[in-house]
Amino acid sequence: MEIAAFDLIPIFSNTLIVIITSSAAVIGLISWRWWQQKKKYSSLRSLPSPKGNWLLGNAPQLLAAANENKFSSSLSNWANELGSMYILWFINRPFLILTKPRVIEKIIVEGHKDGTVARDPELRELWGNLFGGPIMIQQEGSEWQWRRQTYNRSFTSSHLSGYFEIVERACLQVVETLQGAADKQKVILVDPLFAELTMRIICRLMLGIPLDRNSPNHEGPPLEPQKLYEALSVLTKQFNAEAAGENKWFKYIPTKPKQSYWAAKRFLQEFVSPRVDLALQVAGCKQPSSAEVSSLFEKSILVQLAKQPKFNQQMLCAETIGIIFAGTDTTAHTLSFTVGALGINPRVYQLAQQEVDQVWQLYGGINSKSLKELTYLQGIIKESMRLYPVSNGSTACVTTRDTVIDGVDIPEGTSINWSLLAAGRDPEEYQMPDEFLPERWFKDQQRDAQPLTILVFGSGPHRCLGESLAMLEATVMLALLLRYFNWEIVNGRRSLEQLGQNLTVFPQDWMPVRFKVRERRENS
Ligand code: HEM
Repeated sequence: MEIAAFDLIPIFSNTLIVIITSSAAVIGLISWRWWQQKKKYSSLRSLPSPKGNWLLGNAPQLLAAANENKFSSSLSNWANELGSMYILWFINRPFLILTKPRVIEKIIVEGHKDGTVARDPELRELWGNLFGGPIMIQQEGSEWQWRRQTYNRSFTSSHLSGYFEIVERACLQVVETLQGAADKQKVILVDPLFAELTMRIICRLMLGIPLDRNSPNHEGPPLEPQKLYEALSVLTKQFNAEAAGENKWFKYIPTKPKQSYWAAKRFLQEFVSPRVDLALQVAGCKQPSSAEVSSLFEKSILVQLAKQPKFNQQMLCAETIGIIFAGTDTTAHTLSFTVGALGINPRVYQLAQQEVDQVWQLYGGINSKSLKELTYLQGIIKESMRLYPVSNGSTACVTTRDTVIDGVDIPEGTSINWSLLAAGRDPEEYQMPDEFLPERWFKDQQRDAQPLTILVFGSGPHRCLGESLAMLEATVMLALLLRYFNWEIVNGRRSLEQLGQNLTVFPQDWMPVRFKVRERRENS
């Protein structure tokens, strides 16, 4: 049977009507949602915001900042331009950025306590993806509590004094390397050196890997700090891209960077999973033969965690990668900035060296007792973290109901993040904010009864698990450096001003330093 052309007209016109109606419905729905969002967040339109694209808002700037590893410095630069509270628009979605230390602290502590804010669900998902499973930092309520309690058992003060010897031995390895470089008048990039130091310490504590490179280690592949460090960096790059808005499915496109991402994931998994399997066996008393497991491994934090039956293989692998990451970059970059800050502040440098020499004389060296006397050094580390905070806003939150922050109405569903770089230079909190003044951290020097806020380790229940360990590592390393060397920062102030960022903030030039062995008279 033949179909005449005019018989097809009703079919085409019906199809056309369906297409037009459904397109109109979709456009209508999108416009309605757009308008609803606009109305919901209208109170935020009065807050300052960097000039953005009419449709995408500040999304292109945020993605560019993440790609160029400049997220932290961009947040801080916008704060200088726009003030202590501003908005970034991601298309139509608002991100409130805070820079007043006490306002930030109030949100983290009270906001979480009274339920006004919760950890950002998207960031929580990203943390899980980053390390390959659910980890403590993403958790809330009882899921967070049992994890933290399990970890806390390995971070009591008696454990920490036990860790002193390990930290000191690892720091002395760095001193040895620097002595070799100083003899040859070689410039050393201290940041990678400190990253290796902190990685060796955290892998010794977490996985029982001996500090001595030549000691056998049967529980898994050998520790290759540089490879491990690079793998972690690749992962965090992906985290940053997704945090700044890159679609999570993009990582499945087989481009070179994405292939590196999957290779890094595999490398990390292969490094930790044999150790996790063994830890589960040791913890379950299905003891492998003693040749397979060292006593260092048996006493490792991983084996202690594995004794908690709620942890399964995948969770332990994710926690292990997470702890290696958390314990490496943060402390290493803090040490680099501190060495840099001392290099450009001769008055502070001299006072620090005097303190170390006095304590050394009194106690015959640096030990767990004399460490407590190094109060000026501790002020220096805090001051360095105030001016050069290495962590920044990776644990942002979202308002769960309408609320008021620093006098401004903030609707439910607003993402909140902060700039610690700007917060550390807030003139209301810190007098002469651009000056490097360790003395400001001494109680008798403070203006009012309320101590100065230090947010670099976070605040509230999720406050950094490794704070005391990080302070121990930084104090011992710095004391040994001051005792054995004088140094000069090759690029001067520039090393402290040009900041790079992966997840943490670091000196972009890796802090090149020229060390000179100190000539000391006997008993001085
Ligand atoms: C200078 C060094 C360090 C800095 C600046 C730092 C910074 C931070 C910050 C800001 C948080 C809070 C995140 C939040 O509010 O959710 C945090 C949490 C955490 N840090 Fe550190 N950290 C440092 C060293 C370490 C070390 C050495 C470890 C190794 C044990 C570590 C392990 C952790 C863990 C496991 C958490 C999550 C705590 C929880 O969710 O309860 N950190 N850190």
